[in-house]
Amino acid sequence: MIGFRSIFLPIAAFALALLPVKSHSQVKDINWSKAEASRLTLFYPGVTSWEFLISDDHRLGGREIKQGRKDCRHCHLSKEGELDLKADEIAAGTVKMKRSHNPFEPEPLPGKKGTLTAKVQAVYDSDYLYIRAEWESKGAGWNQKKSPSSVPDRASIQLNKSEMYFKKYGCFISCHNDLNTMPLSPSRKEVEANPYYKALGRDDVRLYAYYARTSWSDPKSEKDLSKKLKDGGRIDLRSVEFVEKSAAPLNGWVFDDRRWEEKAAPEGAGEWGGGRYSAVFKVKLNSKEEHDVAVNGGEAVSVGLAIHEDGASKRKHYVSFPFTIGLGTDADIKALKVSD
Ligand code: HEC
Repeated sequence: MIGFRSIFLPIAAFALALLPVKSHSQVKDINWSKAEASRLTLFYPGVTSWEFLISDDHRLGGREIKQGRKDCRHCHLSKEGELDLKADEIAAGTVKMKRSHNPFEPEPLPGKKGTLTAKVQAVYDSDYLYIRAEWESKGAGWNQKKSPSSVPDRASIQLNKSEMYFKKYGCFISCHNDLNTMPLSPSRKEVEANPYYKALGRDDVRLYAYYARTSWSDPKSEKDLSKKLKDGGRIDLRSVEFVEKSAAPLNGWVFDDRRWEEKAAPEGAGEWGGGRYSAVFKVKLNSKEEHDVAVNGGEAVSVGLAIHEDGASKRKHYVSFPFTIGLGTDADIKALKVSD
C-alpha cells in the first residue's frame, strides 16, 4: 500500500471483518470501527495545474506524465509513505517554478499549513459504497452562521473507474491554468460573452477534464466527446458542505464542465465535534444514472479527495493524490463488505 499506512494491523482487520455487522441503509447506522482505516496525506497545491504538470517547469515529472508513465505517488511519496513535495513552501508562497519562475502561490494565506492528514475508510453492502473521511479541524464552516458572505467548509471526492490518467493523476487532470481564480483565468466579461457560458448564464470557468476541452473556450469535437463518455471519461463528483451546524451533500460531475445535478437526491452525511470533521459519501452501486460512476462488487474505483477548510474557497483547498478503493478486490483501501 503505497502512500497509506494502515492504522490497524491487517490481521486484526481480517478478524473483525468476520464479525456480523448489522443492516444499515442509513449512513448513521454504520459501525465504522470495523472498517480498515488508512491515513492519507493531503497537500496544498497552490496554482499547480495540469499545464504545469506536463510542462518543462515540472522537469522529469512533465516528461513522464505526458507519456502517461509514472504516477504522482511514484515520485512524490517515499517508500514509507511520506509525502516528498514542498507543500509548506507552496502554502507560504516561498517557492517558484523552476523554468518560468512563476510562484506556486501568488496569494499565500497567513498561517496556512502545507499538509492535512485524513483518515479514510470504506464499507459496502449490496446497494451502496460508503466512503468516510475524518480530519482535525477548527470547524470554521460548521461554527459560523449561514449568510450570503459565509464560506462553508467542504470535503469533495472525484471518482472514476475507467480512465487511466485519472487513476494515475487524479483530480489534477481537471485542474487548469484558466479556471476561475487560477493565473490565466479569463475575465468575467470574457466568459459571459462566450456562447457556451452565455447560454448557461455563467461568468466562471470550472473544472474540466483535459481530454474534454483544449481550453476554457475550446471544447473537443462532439465525436471526441461522445467517444470519451462511452469509454467512461466522465468523473463523478460528490461533496459534503458544512455550514451552521449542518452538513449538506451534493452530487455532480466533471467532464467538459463541472456541474451539480439539480435533480439527483444526493446522499451523504457529516458532522463536526471534538475538533474533528467527518464526511460520509454514499455512492449507489451499479448506478444506471449517466452522471454517476457505475461501480460494482468485485471492482475497484479511483478516488481523489479535496478538503476546503478554514474560510478557504475555490482553488485554496487541500488535495490528495489518487488512491483506489476495492470492493472485494485488491486496492489501496479495501472496503469492508457488510450485510444489508
Ligand atoms: C517522474 C517523476 C514525477 C512525477 C510522475 C511527478 N512529479 Fe512532481 N515533481 C518531480 C520533480 C523532479 C519535481 C522537482 C522539480 C524541480 O524543482 O526541479 C517535481 C515538483 C513538483 C511540484 C512542485 C513542488 C516541489 O516539491 O518541487 C509539484 C506541486 C508537483 N511536482 C506535483 C506533482 C503531481 C500532482 C504529480 C502527479 C499529477 C506529479 N508531481 C508527478 C517529479 C515528478
